[in-house]
Amino acid sequence: MPVPAPTSPALRVPRSGIRTLMDLALRDPDALHLEIGEPDQGVAAHVVEAAAAAGRAGRTGYTSSTGLPALRAAVADRVTARSGRATSPDDVVVTHGAMHGLAMTFQAVLGPGDEVLVPDPAFPNWAMAATAAGATVRTYPTRPEHGYVPVAAEVAAAITPRTRALLVCSPDNPTGAVYPAAVLAQLVEIARRHDLWLLSDECYEAITFGVPFVSPAAFDTDGRVVVVGSVSKTYGMTGWRIGWVATGSHELLEVLGHLSEALVACPSTVGQVGALAALTGPQDGVDVAVASYRERRDAATDLLAARGLGFTRPEGAFYLLVDVEDDDTDGFAQRLLASRHVAVAPGATFGLQAAGRVRVSLAAARPVLLEGLARLADEVVAARAGRAEAFAG
Ligand SMILES: Cc1ncc(COP(=O)(O)O)c(C=O)c1O
Repeated sequence: MPVPAPTSPALRVPRSGIRTLMDLALRDPDALHLEIGEPDQGVAAHVVEAAAAAGRAGRTGYTSSTGLPALRAAVADRVTARSGRATSPDDVVVTHGAMHGLAMTFQAVLGPGDEVLVPDPAFPNWAMAATAAGATVRTYPTRPEHGYVPVAAEVAAAITPRTRALLVCSPDNPTGAVYPAAVLAQLVEIARRHDLWLLSDECYEAITFGVPFVSPAAFDTDGRVVVVGSVSKTYGMTGWRIGWVATGSHELLEVLGHLSEALVACPSTVGQVGALAALTGPQDGVDVAVASYRERRDAATDLLAARGLGFTRPEGAFYLLVDVEDDDTDGFAQRLLASRHVAVAPGATFGLQAAGRVRVSLAAARPVLLEGLARLADEVVAARAGRAEAFAG
């Protein structure tokens, strides 16, 4: 029997080029890994202790499919504080990471043939999850010449009669763009005018470099902005798999709780206890990590500028798009790995607007980051010299 079944949406789920490159890089023991978004700050001791204590005390059974009440309350406080939109524990569903929250939201608000608009360039997993839900993915451009901040008119122009949802991500992966309040207000207005859900992926809300984080929920007047977040990036807890969805729509919450029960029964109980400790405990580890990403951003961009390479200076998250002067970014990334043992994510995997660029993770250890970028610059400069020679010849 054919697998996937001929009518399964799984047939159409695209592959992420980040994974392909990572799998290749894992076969090279000397590889410097700049391809993945894995925070390096380590998990705070009080978080580990809270989870271990829960384990020792036998707090390891199922929770409600919508999550521990105390964690829902902590998330509600956080969303209220960060977005300015009053959010109660009843507006929150705890999920198995932000991606699980987004995937369920796609399933809940999109039917077969319905369209979701995501930015170009985009984190590939959005299209993977939306396609798995049977939906169709379209893009709106965010352009390097605008610092990868969308232009409202271009977003509006991408809407069709089948569009049901608009996804926004600030701070953004892969561009590091942090959208200004005025742009977010315009996007919420567009969503209102076209009666769309606005899905706000806020995984990187805590990681900005001297510019304010603004949530589109701040401009929500009628419950159409759905906030999705997690402890993965802020607290270096990617493998703990705890995230959330916060929405004023109780119909949506009802469906998400129901889907969660069907799919995962509940998020991991010890993971939830750890997430609660992370959200309610000391935050100094977060400040240290953000300062460190910022310092690495500055060192990385200084190095690239000194070598004459183009880049877009990120204002948040922990990624840097570097212009490698080669439209075949898959080929470039494979060559860089094979010849100089540096793994980067090819721009092609994120979309047309990342053409000629590769994504570098600023979460790599500083010496690894700077050595990797120096070798990347060597590769670009050598290719440039090769092209000049061929032209002269
Ligand atoms: C923009 C964005 N959203 C969601 C996720 C996934 O987050 P989580 O680990 O909470 O599922 C990532 C991880 O890289 C991301 O970059």
